[in-house]
Amino acid sequence: MAAGLVWIPLLVGLLAGPGGTEAPQTTLHPLVGRIFVHTLDHATFLRLPEHVAPPPTARITYHAHLQGYPDLPRWLRYTQRSPHQPGFLYGAATPEDRGHQVIEVIAYNRDSFETTRQRLVLLIGDPEGPRLPYQAEFLVRSHDVEEVLPSTPANRFLAALGGLWEPGELQLLNITSALDRGGRVPLPIEGRKEGVYIKVGSASPFSTCLKMVASPDSQTRCAQGQPPLLSCYDTLAPHFRVAWCNVSLVDLSVLEPADDSPTPGDGVLEHDPFFCPPTEATARDFLTDALVTLLVPLLVALLLALLLAYVMCCRREGRLKRDLATSDIQMVHHGTIRGNTEELRQMAASREVPRPLSTLPMFNVHTGERRPPHGDSAQVPLILDQH
Ligand SMILES: *[C@@H]1O[C@H](CO)[C@@H](O)[C@H](O)[C@H]1NC(C)=O
Ligand SMILES: *[C@@H]1O[C@H](CO)[C@@H](O)[C@H](O)[C@H]1NC(C)=O
Repeated sequence: MAAGLVWIPLLVGLLAGPGGTEAPQTTLHPLVGRIFVHTLDHATFLRLPEHVAPPPTARITYHAHLQGYPDLPRWLRYTQRSPHQPGFLYGAATPEDRGHQVIEVIAYNRDSFETTRQRLVLLIGDPEGPRLPYQAEFLVRSHDVEEVLPSTPANRFLAALGGLWEPGELQLLNITSALDRGGRVPLPIEGRKEGVYIKVGSASPFSTCLKMVASPDSQTRCAQGQPPLLSCYDTLAPHFRVAWCNVSLVDLSVLEPADDSPTPGDGVLEHDPFFCPPTEATARDFLTDALVTLLVPLLVALLLALLLAYVMCCRREGRLKRDLATSDIQMVHHGTIRGNTEELRQMAASREVPRPLSTLPMFNVHTGERRPPHGDSAQVPLILDQH
């Protein structure tokens, strides 16, 4: 079963370049439509002498990108849980990715601030062996993606799944963190994991048990919050907690594999006896249509212009008259105000009332002279001359 697993990196060589300037290079062979996992191990990047294990406290982080580009190719993802743990490059290549891709990996030692480079040459090719038209995807809630990427847990998952499926070669097609599919980071409670989607393919049909899990009846039960119908013993159970409501089955056995490149034809349609081309369209005269379309709005515009001209010129007289009338009224107002002011002035001049006592100075501060209240108080200046 493990023979078909592709993450066993086909290390062609870890060739250190001359003088250490050339980054060491590794050639790997991912396969289209199969999961590819490459572990970025601390030991590879620490430049330790041979047979020396890396210290468990070594802290290294990685940055990987496609050569000449800032990021990884679309199909490849990078993950690392913590600087103490190894990093992973993983993903499933699509048919468009076939060929040759160079990934540059830079490792940062968080303790010594050293950086190390490595080049990964990916030769992406088509998988050999039978097609795997029966594909099932499982949501495993008990694991994080980093926990199923190493080959041991992944092989264990396949072995356990073999108890549910028809005997035949099961292969891993894709592994995705549930976080990449809209999942949420769980609360930091013991035993809570992010979850991971594992897609498995096989050449042999689904078992009745799997078909039942994905049946509409089961989906109805799931929608009502009940467990789905699981007719067989859950062989994955103790170790892998699978969300049985979220199993999806894809059966590609009925579809023939689509031809990848469309074949160009000779550009001439085949003769079809039932094809009758439409008859020649009769000639039509569009002149009247065009004239109506142009002349009617023009006429309306002309009428409006005339109306406006009439309003502006011939109705102006009335406005002038109105203006004159308005100015007459204003003149009358003005005259009235002036008359009233004159009258007030005359009344003020003829006033013969003595000034209030409070406004009169009782004595001169410097001479001590008392001044009797004046007769003509209106003539007394308010500020007295003080000499
Ligand atoms: C693998 O899964 C990811 C995420 O669901 C998806 O984007 C990608 O297309 C899948 N790859 C293949 C080859 O199916
Ligand atoms: C799992 O299935 C249930 C019931 O069908 C659905 O409500 C839920 O959204 C699914 N969860 C995910 C993560 O797909």
